[in-house]
Amino acid sequence: MNDSALAALSPSTAPAAVPQPFFSCRDIHAYYGESYVVQGVSFDVHEGEIVALLGRNGAGKTSTLRTIARLADPQLEAGEIWLGGKPLHTMAAWQAARLGVGLVPEDRRIIPALSVEENLQLAQIEEPRGWPIEQIYEHFPRLAERRRQEAVTLSGGEQQMLAVARALARDVKLLLLDEPYEGLAPVIVREIEKILEQIKQLGFTTIIVEQNAIAALHLSDRALILDMGEIVFDGTAKEVIDNQELRQQYLAI
Ligand SMILES: Nc1ncnc2c1ncn2[C@@H]1O[C@H](COP(=O)(O)OP(=O)(O)OP(=O)(O)O)[C@@H](O)[C@H]1O
Ligand SMILES: [Mg+2]
Repeated sequence: MNDSALAALSPSTAPAAVPQPFFSCRDIHAYYGESYVVQGVSFDVHEGEIVALLGRNGAGKTSTLRTIARLADPQLEAGEIWLGGKPLHTMAAWQAARLGVGLVPEDRRIIPALSVEENLQLAQIEEPRGWPIEQIYEHFPRLAERRRQEAVTLSGGEQQMLAVARALARDVKLLLLDEPYEGLAPVIVREIEKILEQIKQLGFTTIIVEQNAIAALHLSDRALILDMGEIVFDGTAKEVIDNQELRQQYLAI
C-alpha cells in the first residue's frame, strides 16, 4: 500500500469546520498617516443582522467603516476583514464595492447636477447590479415622484433616501450606513427609519453608525461600542438600552 492510500485509510486529523460568520473584522489596525485611529478592532456580523456601531465623537466609527470599505484613508496596516469567505483586507475599494460592500457616507455623495434617476442609473453602469430601478421606486415612492428632479433640489431626507437607494441599485451584501439621520428633522428621521426597517425585513446585512443611538438601537439586533479606536462592548441592543451606566459612560445618553 502506498503512502497516499494509507493516508486515505487513517482517520482525518483535520478539525471539524467551524461555521464562519458572514462578515468579520479580525484585529484590524488603521492609520491616517502617523495617526493611529483603529486600534485592534474585532467583531462579527451574521447574515441578515443589523448592528449598531456606537461611540462618542472621534471614537473611530467613520474610520472603521472606511477601513471596511477599503478606502485609501485610513490605511489598514494589520488584521483581516472577511465578507462571505472573501478577504476584503487584500482588496482595493473598487474590488470591495464589486464584492458588495455598500458604504453610504455621512455626506451622502449624491451627484447634485444629475437627476434622481440618473444618479440611480450611474450606480448601475457596471455589474453586479442590484434592484432594478422600478423596484427601487416601489420602496421609495418619494424618489419615484422626483425621478426627473435634479438631486441638488432634494431635501436632506430625500437625499439620504437617494443615497441608500443608490446602494441598493448595486448588488449590496453589506450595507454600511454612516449617520443616516444626521441633520434631519425628527419627522424625516421616522421616514428614513421606516425605510431601514423595510431593508432589515428584506434581510440586508447592515452596520449602522448613528449619533442618535436610541434610534439606531431600536432598529438593531446587536450593538458595538467603540471608544478610542477599540471595541469596549459587543452585545445585544437591548443590553445597551437596559444598561444606564454603559450608556452614560460611552454614549452620554
Ligand atoms: N482624515 C483624517 N486625518 C487624520 N485624522 C483623522 C482623519 N479623520 C478622522 N481623524 C481622526 O481619527 C479619529 C477617529 O475619527 P472618526 O471620524 O473615525 O470618528 P467618529 O467616531 O466617526 O466621530 P464622529 O462621531 O464625530 O463622526 C479622531 O481622532 C479624528 O480626529
Ligand atoms: Mg463619524
